[in-house]
Amino acid sequence: MPAPIVIPQLASTVRKLVRDARANRRTRRRHRRSPALPDTFSDAVARRNRRLYRTLAGSPLPLTLVEHERLDPEDQNHGTWRLAFRGPGRGGVQPGDLLYLNWENPPHRVDAVLRHFGRRGDERVLIDTFSAPFQPGRLAYTTLRTALTRHVDLQQAGTRLLSRLGRNDAVRHNTEQESLHWTRYRTAGRGGDDLPGPAPRYREFDLLSALERARRDLSLREFLSFQDRIAPRAYSLSRIENDATTGQFIAEITVSELRRPYLTWDSRPRHDHGRSAGYLISRAPGDTVFGWLIPDTHRFPVFLGRSEPLVLVCTGSGISGALSLLRSPQTTPPLWLVYGVRNWDTKHLYGPELERYAEEGVVSRFSVAVSRPEDATTPKRRVTDALWDQRDELVRWIRAGAHIYLIGRLDMGISVTGTIVKILVDREVCHDEEEARALVRQWKAELRFQAAVSGL
Ligand SMILES: Cc1cc2nc3c(=O)[nH]c(=O)nc-3n(C[C@H](O)[C@H](O)[C@H](O)COP(=O)(O)OP(=O)(O)OC[C@H]3O[C@@H](n4cnc5c(N)ncnc54)[C@H](O)[C@@H]3O)c2cc1C
Ligand SMILES: NC(=O)c1ccc[n+]([C@@H]2O[C@H](COP(=O)([O-])OP(=O)(O)OC[C@H]3O[C@@H](n4cnc5c(N)ncnc54)[C@H](OP(=O)(O)O)[C@@H]3O)[C@@H](O)[C@H]2O)c1
Repeated sequence: MPAPIVIPQLASTVRKLVRDARANRRTRRRHRRSPALPDTFSDAVARRNRRLYRTLAGSPLPLTLVEHERLDPEDQNHGTWRLAFRGPGRGGVQPGDLLYLNWENPPHRVDAVLRHFGRRGDERVLIDTFSAPFQPGRLAYTTLRTALTRHVDLQQAGTRLLSRLGRNDAVRHNTEQESLHWTRYRTAGRGGDDLPGPAPRYREFDLLSALERARRDLSLREFLSFQDRIAPRAYSLSRIENDATTGQFIAEITVSELRRPYLTWDSRPRHDHGRSAGYLISRAPGDTVFGWLIPDTHRFPVFLGRSEPLVLVCTGSGISGALSLLRSPQTTPPLWLVYGVRNWDTKHLYGPELERYAEEGVVSRFSVAVSRPEDATTPKRRVTDALWDQRDELVRWIRAGAHIYLIGRLDMGISVTGTIVKILVDREVCHDEEEARALVRQWKAELRFQAAVSGL
């Protein structure tokens, strides 16, 4: 990663920008489109990556927020929003694809950092921005204020800053937690059901209180090279529409509220919104955000050229990905939607629309699991319970060649896989859990079992 240069020399800046632009052009040329459909998971990953690198080697699209709606206004603790953006071009993505959005720091944080370093913010800097794995970094030549707003994470003290301030205990802890997270992620990704420990808990320190601690020992140049870059966040598209008259597209997403725990420098616990979720839900119609439309590795069977039945298991805002399929003309029943929500009365999100699909036969079978019913006498159900209770039916669908597609939390992906393994043994599709796990792994490799799951 090149070190950022504050107030750079003009000639070397131009040389670096030209080199960067060439590298990005080469990336776009190298990762060409390939028309055939993937058959295996590894092929799907390779194709997704080619499209991803090609897309990310171009500039992010300016997206104007045109619709902003709270879907569950009665829920006091955990909100969900529907956001629609208008963007330039034709979109060119399929149901199941993603919007990859750049979040930004709030102005008061940027001002606090500028004050700390005694800068006005109008001086120009050449700074490396987020870069996707295996692709050239993109450089930005911009004002310090814009760099701090759009490119540098100002929410939490980065690992290198923590080390510099002597917080190696936190660095070690977070590194272990990150490794646990990736083990869980890979477990869910390969169709595994063995939970390697509880969800990770990070020790994140607020940047501003860390900066107070650093006082004048830290130069702006060091600070810029220590702090993480703002990494965009993915959101499943629930709708993508091309507007032939304007030549623009409308892309809709569903965003769940997320509580981000962090510590002040003297270790007092605090909570705030997640960086990207907080940024998105506080936007107002007319605001512009920046992002890319990107493919997911996962594909609904119809986009793999397959016509087998589909069992779609979604939780919470994971319904967004399912909606993109249900709203598209390519949807092909039989389709069984298993949907897990905290509460149907206050948190069905798109309930009436889903019920309509069930009445019209777009959804052939609709199962709802409510985990936090208002009425204390109603049993709590999760999607895992819904699948277990209907295991005979699930096995009938599996014997008919059904695809299984999960969308939602990482934890849900692991639990549902575990339930399916148990069902395969209980209903004597497999002799034991080892054989059942091998079968799920085989389905995963053949793209018959796909888990679009994320988070914790
Ligand atoms: C393919 C894909 C599709 C997605 N679709 C949607 C969607 O449709 N709707 C939706 O609401 N969200 C979706 N997400 C999740 C979304 O991308 C963001 O992760 C989410 O909004 C939280 O980001 P944040 O910046 O608000 O939270 P952050 O500020 O990143 O906070 C996240 C919380 O997780 C912890 N954390 C820190 N690092 C990690 C880590 N490496 N892994 C896990 N947790 C960590 C933090 O301690 C904090 O508590 C999707 C994610 C992926 C990968
Ligand atoms: N493609 C993707 O990767 C993608 C797309 C969209 C969303 N997402 C992710 O999905 C998450 C959705 O979160 P949300 O806040 O909207 O959901 P939520 O309201 O917290 O949970 C929805 C339902 O899922 C249940 N659930 C939680 N853990 C489970 C588990 N291990 N097994 C079975 N059911 C479980 C919940 O039960 P309880 O009430 O018991 O907790 C609840 O009924 C987001 O964090 C987002 O990151 C991912």
